[in-house]
Amino acid sequence: MSLPREERLKALGLWPVWRRRGIPGPDAAAPAAPPPVRAGNAPLPPRGVGQQAMPVMDSGLTAPDWDALRQAVQTCTRCPLHETRGKAVFGVGDPVADWLLIGEAPGADEDRQGEPFVGQAGRLLDAMLTAIGQQRGTNVYIANVLKSRPPGNRDPRPDEVAACLPYLECQIDLIRPRIILALGRFAAQSLLLTEASISRLRGRVHEYRGVPLVVTYHPAYLLRNPGDKAKVWEDLCLARQTLASFRTKTGD
Ligand code: URA
Repeated sequence: MSLPREERLKALGLWPVWRRRGIPGPDAAAPAAPPPVRAGNAPLPPRGVGQQAMPVMDSGLTAPDWDALRQAVQTCTRCPLHETRGKAVFGVGDPVADWLLIGEAPGADEDRQGEPFVGQAGRLLDAMLTAIGQQRGTNVYIANVLKSRPPGNRDPRPDEVAACLPYLECQIDLIRPRIILALGRFAAQSLLLTEASISRLRGRVHEYRGVPLVVTYHPAYLLRNPGDKAKVWEDLCLARQTLASFRTKTGD
């Protein structure tokens, strides 16, 4: 489902707009040193290691900047959901967060306000963050797989996911989080390209675009099944431990 970056940016109408800051375009005289090249979905290097002000893309171009990406999402017509949405829900939080939380799609409240997880499930999500000493907006970024609300909160369709996922990939490349928490079956299955149940996906560390990923229950599920709170706590602890061991390894 994941396209090479150039294809993805072309598909989003975001190519070839961005160049590494301060570096001449492809038509200019040969650059002093060749830009770093990485394979399409190769892991991102650790933050701070040879890093430019903006992430370096395969071709030496930068990822689209936040403003361009936000604008592209807000005016997106790549799937029919744009016809029924209120506001596109881009994502919210710290643009250089260690923690990236990924939900499914905006609900009614989010569609009205243009921000992810602002309803009842969002309040529970905030409480989950508090439990691990974090808070929305500080070292945490929250986004969804889909940026537009499926009418009546129906399940997202594969074509909608395919159309929208490149935006999330761009967000990940810009943020370079150190841990991803996939909230619920839908986010987990979409990111990990699997149909495995959430109970099979929980309890271990996966990887998405080179970033460790932990799966947990969606807060909306937890509202209906409060008995599973202990499992979510285990998942949060696993994510926190994973992040801590990353820091120990890199001395960061
Ligand atoms: N559920 C989600 O998955 N995302 C939101 O933003 C709100 C509810």
